[in-house]
Amino acid sequence: MSATREQFGSRLGFILAAAGSAVGIGNLVGFPVAAAKNGGGAFLFIYALFVLLVCLPVMMAELSVGRASQKDPLGAYRKLSDGSPLWPIAGWLVLITPYMIAVFYTVITIWLFGYLFEAVTGNLDQLANPDYFGAFINSNKVFVYFIAVAAIVNLILVGGVKDGIERGAKIMMPILFLMLIGLVIFVLTLDNAFAGVQYYLVPDFSKIDARVINSALSQAFFSLSLGMGIMITYGSYMSRSEKIASSAKFVALTDTAVAFSAGLLIMPAIFSFNPDINTAELSESSVGLIFTFLPKIFLALQTTIGYFGASAVASIFFLLVFFAAITSLVSITEVPVSSLVGEKGYSRPKALLVLTVSMGLLSAACILSFGRVEWLTGFVTYADQSKSLFDVVIDVFYDTILPLNGLLVCLFVIYRWKKLNFHKELACSDPDYSCSKLERYVDFSLSTFIPVILFLVFANTVALKYF
Ligand code: PHE
Repeated sequence: MSATREQFGSRLGFILAAAGSAVGIGNLVGFPVAAAKNGGGAFLFIYALFVLLVCLPVMMAELSVGRASQKDPLGAYRKLSDGSPLWPIAGWLVLITPYMIAVFYTVITIWLFGYLFEAVTGNLDQLANPDYFGAFINSNKVFVYFIAVAAIVNLILVGGVKDGIERGAKIMMPILFLMLIGLVIFVLTLDNAFAGVQYYLVPDFSKIDARVINSALSQAFFSLSLGMGIMITYGSYMSRSEKIASSAKFVALTDTAVAFSAGLLIMPAIFSFNPDINTAELSESSVGLIFTFLPKIFLALQTTIGYFGASAVASIFFLLVFFAAITSLVSITEVPVSSLVGEKGYSRPKALLVLTVSMGLLSAACILSFGRVEWLTGFVTYADQSKSLFDVVIDVFYDTILPLNGLLVCLFVIYRWKKLNFHKELACSDPDYSCSKLERYVDFSLSTFIPVILFLVFANTVALKYF
């Protein structure tokens, strides 16, 4: 490729785009429920430690690999490993993972779009009906919303890095922050809100065990969009005048602040709806919470703030989650786009066309795996459970391969690409950068305990899920 690589136009643009990737459904609903169920403040404390001590060094490693190589993940592994026949396999993994995650994330984003549509048109009673979700995901409406979601993602991505991804993030992220703050303020004024805040924040260290520690780490890792090739790709679009360490800190801080604030939205809402709630009833899954539980709360709001008020709150909520999902979906789709452009020399529109068709077919197969097509519904059986195609994609790519990719990137940076090159990349634009404490910490952690922790998470997931 002779043309110079596209870049983000500004530091803020990069941070908003990377934060847009990181802030997703996981932050807005996955995190609050995980925290509430697993020891409140105690979980928050452990989560924050993991973000700082484990995830931040991995993010710096991924961004450095991207910026130093100026390539997509596959190209980066090829270029920086200097002809090694084995490391490109890690590159392939980091390419297939986002491709497959995008396949299932698209399905959830389509559902969000459908719920947003119903909320805006004032159909809360329908959404709150316990049978609605099951019927909706198997209705043909889903395919109509599919076209809308694919069109939005394509429209953003065809504009390229600066005029597409960055511009989209600059519009959506500030609106997302405002909606989140507005909803938190509103929810805190509801009756019993304080009980929710208390439940969310009061630490209970007795709940912390190996399982909770594992889930805090996985949550932090996914939430920061690590192991998916996204930070390698976005790093390759970062200007050389930017400081990787401080930009990474900003992204991690924003992501964590959004997750924390989401707890102040979700938990008080749940408690004001039902002050006697036994939180064990809350399903572990974000999907159940968004699509079946929260609509009941929105409907109940009609008695206090009226039909229009309740519809407005529901619409703002679904728009918030939809924006979070779209910016994540854009970032994850950009990974295979950049590979097709970089490795195969495709134009962006051609790459997008190829991906929209191929990923679209797989997403459609997932949509048909909720009962409509038998062999997709009972796709495989493991650990005595029959799994649909949709479940398998989540189990394999989201839950299992992600920590493996993280592990490989750490080993790659330290032992193959070498510390010296990594340091040069971290320091290149930073005149004050000496062998600082941070650098020593990042080196030490990436070469010792972070790969061990990631390996344990990977091995534990494999053992628990498949046997
Ligand atoms: N960080 C996202 C979240 O918290 C995870 C993600 C990123 C998922 C990009 C898909 C694409 O939901």
